[in-house]
Amino acid sequence: MSFQERRALFPVSVEIVDRGNGPGLAIGGCELTALAAEYGTPLYLYDQATLAAAVDTYRHVLDAYPAGGEITYAGKAGLNLALAQWMDRQGVWLDCTGVGELHVAQVASVDRSRVLVHGVAKTDADLQAAVRQAGTIVVDNLDELRRLVDLAAAAPPGQPFPDLWLRVLPGLAVDTHAFRQTGQEDSKFGMDASTARQAVALCLRHGLSLTGLHFHQGSHFHDPTPIGPAVEMVLDLAASLRDEFGWTPAHLSPGGGWGVAYHEDDLPQPAVEEYVTFVAEALIAGCEKRGLPLPVLHVEPGRSLVARAGVALYRVRAAKRTLSRRWLLLDGGMADNIRPALYGTRYSASPVANPQRPDEGPAWLAGPYCESGDILVENLPMPAVETDELIAVPASGAYQIAMSSNYNGALKPAVLWLEAGREHVIQRRQTLADLIARDEVLPTE
Ligand code: LLP
Repeated sequence: MSFQERRALFPVSVEIVDRGNGPGLAIGGCELTALAAEYGTPLYLYDQATLAAAVDTYRHVLDAYPAGGEITYAGKAGLNLALAQWMDRQGVWLDCTGVGELHVAQVASVDRSRVLVHGVAKTDADLQAAVRQAGTIVVDNLDELRRLVDLAAAAPPGQPFPDLWLRVLPGLAVDTHAFRQTGQEDSKFGMDASTARQAVALCLRHGLSLTGLHFHQGSHFHDPTPIGPAVEMVLDLAASLRDEFGWTPAHLSPGGGWGVAYHEDDLPQPAVEEYVTFVAEALIAGCEKRGLPLPVLHVEPGRSLVARAGVALYRVRAAKRTLSRRWLLLDGGMADNIRPALYGTRYSASPVANPQRPDEGPAWLAGPYCESGDILVENLPMPAVETDELIAVPASGAYQIAMSSNYNGALKPAVLWLEAGREHVIQRRQTLADLIARDEVLPTE
């Protein structure tokens, strides 16, 4: 397996450079060996050029949609001040789940009109923050809506109140891991058509600004086909709401969830164009059939905006052989990337130095944590790799840092932003002091 065959998993700016110390990987013009020496490992890197390319691709396809479109970044894939700020500068909306992500958005000064709030069981604190800070709230259920009615009634006159969209449960999921399916009939997310009808009646009765419908069928799918019947279901609902209440959605969102390649077997990268064009065509045909006005199309990707931009960098701390396996034991694993253990995701990897070396045979790349499930990469053709070498794991920009933990006392890694040959620390590595910052000792006896 040559590096060339894995190259498309890495950020678009990846190159092999030789600045006098042998060939090695560079991203965003920055040599990874130098970054690891300066900032330590595990280390997470985000390549600005790849983020920009992903936003451009979505934007380009949405521009062809007649009623206009918006991109909303699903912050759950990974949020920090820099990412929130950068997305806002691109005019990308930010989907925040609850008061925590809303806090990041606020400190990053994200424009209120572009903040959208999700959540299946929003607390009072979530809703109060959303009312203060968001332009749009996606309502999951009637209980939530009743609390919003109360909040609207209590709001001082003249204070802006967010637009509301209803999250509709289409009754059909996309093809993905069961933990990531959300659209199926028995899903905990969203409301069925008859509940949505009650929700519309409630909004209209209380004068709330209901402007859109939303659905989301699951996350990390490669086949857009199941979106077709879901669009039909949601447009049937829209037509019946028009007939019953004279209300039509000005905005429609099919959520997010378009997949990415994690391993060379997943290549080529699933084409965003295919996904967005599929949704746009289904909407155009479906609205025309029912005589509905074409809504603004909102897409809500997380992973497909940020996964490929991210690389995780580890150092090999030990190498060993067992009966049938070659193990490379790394200084990071399930504490910074739970995804292989949780979903069985197959990742790829490459040595940083001289990545074009011939393969020696399959390797198992495992982390240092006290679980046999702490294996990052299984059975991957790899060159001979020595202890202390650096390993780069591509497609690491989504849901890894976001789901990271302090398991076994692991310190969460530093995160760097790479742009035009320069690195910027956007999240420092946790310190030992951070580990006990919330702890209190017992009272003296
Ligand atoms: N919109 C809604 C309402 C969502 O629930 C999600 C993901 C997204 C958008 C973004 O989906 P994406 O484009 O990132 O696939 N921890 C799992 C993923 C869980 C996704 C939850 N919701 C993983 O690591 O694969």
